[in-house]
Amino acid sequence: METSYDTLLKFELPEIIYGLGSLSQIGQCARRLGGERIFLVTDPGVTEHGWVDESIKYLEKESLKHVIYDNVVTNPRCFQVEQGAKLYNQKKCDVIVSVGGGSPMDAAKGIAILVSNHGRIHDYAGCNLITQPIPPLICVPTTAGTGSDVSQFSIIGDPRKKIKMTILSRAIMADISLIDPRMLQTKPRELMAATGIDALTHAIEAYVSSLAWPLTDPHAIHAIELVFANLQKAVDTRNIEALEGMAIASLEAGIAFSNAILGAVHALAHPLSGVYDIHHGIANAILLPMVIRKNLPHAVQKFALIASAMGLDTRGMSDVEAAEYVPQMAQELISNLDLPTTLSEIGVKAVDIPAMSRDAAQDLCMQTNPHCYGIEEIESMYREAL
Ligand SMILES: [Fe+2]
Repeated sequence: METSYDTLLKFELPEIIYGLGSLSQIGQCARRLGGERIFLVTDPGVTEHGWVDESIKYLEKESLKHVIYDNVVTNPRCFQVEQGAKLYNQKKCDVIVSVGGGSPMDAAKGIAILVSNHGRIHDYAGCNLITQPIPPLICVPTTAGTGSDVSQFSIIGDPRKKIKMTILSRAIMADISLIDPRMLQTKPRELMAATGIDALTHAIEAYVSSLAWPLTDPHAIHAIELVFANLQKAVDTRNIEALEGMAIASLEAGIAFSNAILGAVHALAHPLSGVYDIHHGIANAILLPMVIRKNLPHAVQKFALIASAMGLDTRGMSDVEAAEYVPQMAQELISNLDLPTTLSEIGVKAVDIPAMSRDAAQDLCMQTNPHCYGIEEIESMYREAL
């Protein structure tokens, strides 16, 4: 294993509370962070499944007041973040709690940025541009995949400009990630499959990232093992042990990618969701096998270890032989989950490829891919995935 690094490395984590029924801790956590009036960011689907009512019950048990903000959709928008920050200030809230998948969690981080840093969310797109500390933040994930509850990322879209902005900063890491695997039981099949592949993508990209190091690698490789052991069963049967496996997979993949950053799959996926409003996990599922194939020569040893984590018996194989199984095994899992496998299936048109390629080349995630692809190479990757 490589032991000398030409850059500074770091490892950041929120406090993590995990377990079946751990949602009951939400009021005590908010109280402990100094809350009196809680701003609860969620979406209508989470409300419909009863998780908001249950959260309110635990907040009220601690005599906490609350304001609900549920105007959040998949791929959260800049104006929703601005509206949320305005409401937070009007109601004089003091702690933000997000109950939901990646969209409410990313929206909550965006709201938190504007509450204390002011201006427009666009001002903070990029790396480390946040100067003022955000209000205390608790994330309660209801999907297994995004890792936003433990990450330093928030992705916010501007539908007018058809872009997704990547905000990366230590300042937006949650204070507490509260993970209750019961909450995964109410997710539709396709969403669970897509978010599970998002977790797999986080783990693989973090493991081969140029910023991977011994504190991120064990989490990344264990997350890959857990996805291959549990995702299909979790999607098909909602078995609680498989759901717990996916909750841990999402957590460990999130820990790995928040600290080692990501790669070309995410760099190419962000423009797809910006232009077409495609679910992030589905964009990743379509791109992942193809990008792995391109990346193989740049990280052969690590891909050989990934093959083993995916369940392949690699004894007697060279690293190259073992690594070559990885895109195939990823593709098989994605196909078995009935996720789309080509961009044309989800309506992507060749005419948009040049503009998306320019955005992908600029995406922060491309900088830590094992090989930095230029615009022409990215265009040919999108065409290959059509
Ligand atoms: Fe992702």
